[in-house]
Amino acid sequence: MEKLSGKVALITGGSRGIGLAISHALAGEGAALILVGRNRNALARAIKALPGPAEACAGDVRRPADVRGIFQQVRRRRRRLDILVNNAGVFTYKPFANCSAYTASKFGALGFTRVLRKELRALGIRVTAVLPGVADTAMLRAFGNDTPRSKVLQPEDVARTVLEAILQPGRATVEEIAILPSSGAL
Ligand SMILES: NC(=O)c1ccc[n+]([C@@H]2O[C@H](COP(=O)([O-])OP(=O)(O)OC[C@H]3O[C@@H](n4cnc5c(N)ncnc54)[C@H](OP(=O)(O)O)[C@@H]3O)[C@@H](O)[C@H]2O)c1
Repeated sequence: MEKLSGKVALITGGSRGIGLAISHALAGEGAALILVGRNRNALARAIKALPGPAEACAGDVRRPADVRGIFQQVRRRRRRLDILVNNAGVFTYKPFANCSAYTASKFGALGFTRVLRKELRALGIRVTAVLPGVADTAMLRAFGNDTPRSKVLQPEDVARTVLEAILQPGRATVEEIAILPSSGAL
């Protein structure tokens, strides 16, 4: 039996990479999806390949007006939201010092997620922080990293782990997951 049938999930950055793999994992368990990203064509391509019902919601998560619009659309069309995957992100590599801005942003995201978990606990909303190591996506390729694919994570590895956390019974929260390539951090 599909374990997420009747549930609605929103995935930011669902058009490719880790977000797309999570979309496939959730759709495979019967969830109805809303995929968010900036590029409408990429969203349309992703939705076409999904095994279940999904709709696109184009928007830039850096823009408050876009974010408000996305949630208005969810309210209007679905009237519920069970799972939010806050996945969209970009990578920059520039001196001062190479990975500093990206790393700072990820520490910020982790702090935000930890505090959110405490704030939302009273409402019965579970919050999980997922910390993957290097994964084989466009982000890695843009960085020019030529590490063999066999040595890094595949997006599906992260997606499987995310799905397992979601499928825990309501009484259990997977607070943080670190999933790294067995070959070690690069
Ligand atoms: N790949 C890795 O090694 C790795 C490791 C650890 C953590 N992560 C994190 O995992 C997440 C996904 O990474 P990925 O490797 O799958 O990246 P990716 O392949 O580059 O995909 C990024 C996704 O986010 C969307 N996106 C980017 N900026 C956006 C914005 N401002 N508003 C809305 N959507 C936006 C992109 O679509 P559009 O460009 O069309 O908007 C795309 O769907 C990121 O947060 C990344 O930092 C990745």
